[in-house]
Formats: sequence, structure tokens, C-alpha cells
Amino acid sequence: MAKESKKLKSEGAPLYTVPGLSTEQGAQVAVVLQDRLNALTDLHLTLKHVHWNVVGPHFVAVHEMLDPQVEAVRDMADTTAERIATLGLSPVGTPGAIVADRGWDDYSVGRAGAIEHLGALDLVYAGVIEDHRRAIETAGELDPITEDMLIAQSAQLEQFHWFVRAHLETSGGQLSTAGAETERQAKRQAGERAGAKRETA
Ligand SMILES: [Fe+2]
Repeated sequence: MAKESKKLKSEGAPLYTVPGLSTEQGAQVAVVLQDRLNALTDLHLTLKHVHWNVVGPHFVAVHEMLDPQVEAVRDMADTTAERIATLGLSPVGTPGAIVADRGWDDYSVGRAGAIEHLGALDLVYAGVIEDHRRAIETAGELDPITEDMLIAQSAQLEQFHWFVRAHLETSGGQLSTAGAETERQAKRQAGERAGAKRETA
């Protein structure tokens, strides 16, 4: 790949879109979907990064739990990109464009304990799911087909979020990451709680 290749840009209104929508509406929906495509691509790459970097107790459980999530989120990204193309626009899937356009920071944890990564992932999933909810609201006003796709994705993302949180929850229903505002804070709280549990066991 040549260094000088420019970041692809999604164009304005397409020359055609799905029947029943104006081309302007098609473009509006595609803008919402491009942001979700960025988030889903970022998420499946991040989940693989965690799959490779977990260490310590629970390694096998967490390492193996993540691969089906990677596959499912990759499928969501594929469906989202193909919806943009169906609407008559060009989905942008290159790494540089994602980094340039995303409104969040890169995942911040390298090699770390499985529970610490899950603490950080609790915040990652929460961010993606909140943004999906907002996208559902916007899409709902313009295109129920896109809305339906995003709702189905959200149901699966929320279930994966629960898989993560179940590792962080006490029998009393408290999350070790409660109140954490950054991934690093969530990682630290989850790690400390897991350490304290081992000491008192
Ligand atoms: Fe693997």
C-alpha cells in the first residue's frame, strides 16, 4: 500500500438509495451507520487484542470466551457496511479513516490479568452500546430497516456486555467497576476486588 494514498471520504447524497427514501435521507442514515461501522470494527479488533493479552487466573476462560464475540462483532460490522452500500453510499473500512473519524481513544490496556481486562471491557462495551442506542433513535426517524438491524445488534452486544460483567459482579449484585470513569480506573478496581477476594478466600 502506497504511503501517499489518501483517506477515503464518504461522499454526500448518493445518486440512488433504497426505494422509499430520498437520497438525502439515505445519506443521513449512512452517516449514522459509518460511525457505528467505525465502532464495531474498533470493538472486534480490541476484543482480539484482549484475547492475545490476557494473563493469569481465568486465562483460558476469558481467552476462549472472547473469540465468539470477535466473530459476532465482525459479522455486525460486515452487515453495517453492506447496509451503507445498499443505501447507495461507500462504506469506509480503512484503519486510518477509522482512527481519524472516531470520537474515542484507543483501548489503553496491554498485557494484564483477565479480570483487569474485563474491567476495562465493561467500559468499552458500555460506550458502544450507549452510542448504538442513540443511533437507533436517529435511524428510527428515517429508516426502520436500519433501526431494526441496530436493535438486533444491540441485543447481542448487551448480552456480551453481561458475559463481561458477570465476572465483575458480587453475589449481592455489585459491580467491581461501579463509578469508574476510565478504562484504567475500571481495570484497577476490578483487579483490586479480585485480589481482595483471593486473599479472604
Ligand atoms: Fe486465538
